Amino acid sequence: MASISLRRVEKAYGHGAKLNKVIHGLDAEIADGEFIVIVGPSGCGKSTLLRMVAGLEEITGGEIAIGARVVNQLEPSQRDIAMVFQNYALYPHMSVYDNMAYGLKIAGRPKAEIDERVRKAAGILELGHLLERRPRELSGGQRQRVAMGRAIVRQPQVFLFDEPLSNLDAKLRAQTRLEIQKLHRELGITSLFVTHDQVEAMTLAQRMIVMNGGRMEQFGTPEAVYSRPASTFVAGFIGSPPMNLLDGEAAGTAFSHQGQSVALPAAAPRAGALVLGLRPEHARIDPAGWPMQVQTVEMLGAERLVHGQVLGQGFTLRIDSTLPAPQAGQTLGVSADAAHLHWFDPGSRQRVDAA
Ligand SMILES: Nc1ncnc2c1ncn2[C@@H]1O[C@H](COP(=O)(O)OP(=O)(O)O)[C@@H](O)[C@H]1O
Ligand SMILES: [Mg+2]
Repeated sequence: MASISLRRVEKAYGHGAKLNKVIHGLDAEIADGEFIVIVGPSGCGKSTLLRMVAGLEEITGGEIAIGARVVNQLEPSQRDIAMVFQNYALYPHMSVYDNMAYGLKIAGRPKAEIDERVRKAAGILELGHLLERRPRELSGGQRQRVAMGRAIVRQPQVFLFDEPLSNLDAKLRAQTRLEIQKLHRELGITSLFVTHDQVEAMTLAQRMIVMNGGRMEQFGTPEAVYSRPASTFVAGFIGSPPMNLLDGEAAGTAFSHQGQSVALPAAAPRAGALVLGLRPEHARIDPAGWPMQVQTVEMLGAERLVHGQVLGQGFTLRIDSTLPAPQAGQTLGVSADAAHLHWFDPGSRQRVDAA
């Protein structure tokens, strides 16, 4: 097993006038045995970063180390990594057993060792009873497990996953997520897992790297990223529905926008233009609170999402569905605890904390 160090890692595609910088100097220290999720919208550079760790993509600048070894110049086969992709191409004419054994056979491992490794991986993945089947005789989830089995038998120092669950339906995705967690508990192999799905990221990560436009916005535990987002981007990307973000001017316990003003439960961290963040689940109905004009109400079963406006800007409130349903056109009052208010700089979009 091994740690992973990313030091000022850069990537650009193309040359001259067509130069396209896609990773802008990214630093991260990943400890031996950690499960790290890299999450961000499509096109932010997640796959590029993973492929640079794998050695499938050249590094334009900076350094990547796996354990004590800088791997910049090493071929993928020399990096002691195993990768699982979204499109896990299994050999259709081979049994599950042979699909899992193939890489070890090519590497010239002894037959007895191959058999032991394949059966152990099959046991972990609960594929023991399917070893003689062909891929076409398996469900999508089972095929994905075989693809993971192929990676496990190699006993790599590092697992790299690039959106491996995207082709599965929602139920299977949730189930496979639990299996990946179990796998990590049992094997403890350092893992980098790429996804665009923030729910997947929150449920799988020990720590997560939130990326946006080739830069790291935040690196932390799911709890830290949710409770103290470093920027408005992270605030809007992690959590569903996203955090409400209101522009305004703060002066002590007053927050105003275009002639309307609301009272804050505690003074803002500084005076002047600020962005106020409040999650839908942290706002509550309070007749003495901020006026909210209700526009639509969505019933989700256990809860309702109430959409409308506060200070003339879009605002969503999440309430228990046992409470009376607010009606479109109505004006409610909403309030929140001071501990749940987040503040951001309107220019840099970075978090602002009390001095
Ligand atoms: N081989 C390539 N040549 C040129 N540009 C590329 C190549 N691969 C990816 N890119 C660009 O790099 C950016 C990041 O892509 P990618 O890492 O695939 O994003 P993600 O995996 O987060 O969706 C995108 O703008 C994409 O168009
Ligand atoms: Mg990708």
